[in-house]
Amino acid sequence: MQQRENWGSKVGFILAAAGSAVGLGNIWKFPYIAGENGGAAFIFIYLICIAIIGLPVLIAEVLLGRTTQRNPVGAFRKLSNSKIWVSVGGLGVIAGFVILSFYGVVAGWSFGYIIESIKGTFFEFSKVGDSGAYFTSLTSNITWIVGYLAIFMSLTMLIVYFGVQKGIERASKIMMPLLIVILLILMIRGLTMEGAGKGIDFLLKPDWSHITPGAVLIALGHAFFTLSLGMGAMMTYGSYMSKKDNIPSAAVQIVFLDTLVALIAGIAIFTAVFATGQSPDVGPGLIFHTLPVVFTKMSGGYVFSILFFILLTIAALTSAISLLEVVIAYFVDERGWKRHNAVIVFGIVTFLVGIPSALSFNVMSGFKIFGLNFFDFVDFLASNVLLPLGGLLISIFVAYIWGFDKALLNLKQGAENLFDNYPRVVFFWKIFLKYFAPVLIFLVLLDSTGILSSIFK
Ligand code: PHE
Repeated sequence: MQQRENWGSKVGFILAAAGSAVGLGNIWKFPYIAGENGGAAFIFIYLICIAIIGLPVLIAEVLLGRTTQRNPVGAFRKLSNSKIWVSVGGLGVIAGFVILSFYGVVAGWSFGYIIESIKGTFFEFSKVGDSGAYFTSLTSNITWIVGYLAIFMSLTMLIVYFGVQKGIERASKIMMPLLIVILLILMIRGLTMEGAGKGIDFLLKPDWSHITPGAVLIALGHAFFTLSLGMGAMMTYGSYMSKKDNIPSAAVQIVFLDTLVALIAGIAIFTAVFATGQSPDVGPGLIFHTLPVVFTKMSGGYVFSILFFILLTIAALTSAISLLEVVIAYFVDERGWKRHNAVIVFGIVTFLVGIPSALSFNVMSGFKIFGLNFFDFVDFLASNVLLPLGGLLISIFVAYIWGFDKALLNLKQGAENLFDNYPRVVFFWKIFLKYFAPVLIFLVLLDSTGILSSIFK
């Protein structure tokens, strides 16, 4: 058998994993769900969820990967012989397909919007209604929407094709610094606009009346999505890590970067949205409907619009490669496929699975599953069912099946100093992983079945 690949450096792993975490979730989803749920108070709850659930589960996932040096299916197989747990790994691989298929559609829009911003299209709009109508006309165009999905998927395949070090690590090392630079430029632009203060108030002054149990559950669900948890992406990236590396410290850095990017994106977007008199709570259209109009009203808007959509596309790309890598690692480790063949075959399969999502905005808009169109259905299935379920099972597995003590022994490798100097870390990881994570995630799942929301109504 061929030698399994490894990250070239610790920083390579951190940038790749942060690249997976930082994505459409941070720049597209986080601002609009914060906007819909009242800003500051929601962000506060979200930060708590990240700290007490996200971080402990992230450590658990990376640890499973590093200990077994396998993809999610192989990881569970190595640590338990039970078919049930192996199929939990399988669920992760399936989730990888499902998420990438709709993720690629939104990422494709983002790519398409780079071209639109270069063409200067946005300057024809004077109000959000116009840009909204334009967005609808683009997404109704099958060639546009499927075409950009194809382009985005090809880029994703190209990176994964070159492997862990020469593909994923190298791409992350180039794209992540670029992402941070663009983001900072956009934040400064937002902050220097007249009236930016209202946006900052929105982000900092909590209005607790917006915090309903539903909002708490949205915050928790998003903590999973944004940290790429619950489907084995972090496990797979962890499997290319060396036993000499310090997992808790890497995990803290990943969480820190991910949160920072979400907050900076929030500042950049809301300062500009408020300064130009737009409304923050318009939902998923915030980026594709509202922002184009915001750009027409700011000086330098042409350049900033191009930078913004480049930023969004880069963020999506470094996440998409981690989704595809889960699938590829499975076929390479478990089924003995060659990486190159696996990338070509499963990249194309994912593209094909993405087509119904793309068509949900045009010819298939009338096709409903449980009252949702195909795109909304797979988004719901992945974000509200598969990821929390995966996270729940992973925390139960590490805490109770594999066993906390064994997990701890492995976690100590590479982190000896931390454990000697801060013995409390163990205590916190233990209570969060054993009790908080399973219980709270279980509540999110109940909520996605509608049971909780109906109780709290
Ligand atoms: N974390 C990514 C984002 O915020 C999405 C993602 C989820 C990526 C699950 C990989 C796995 O956009």
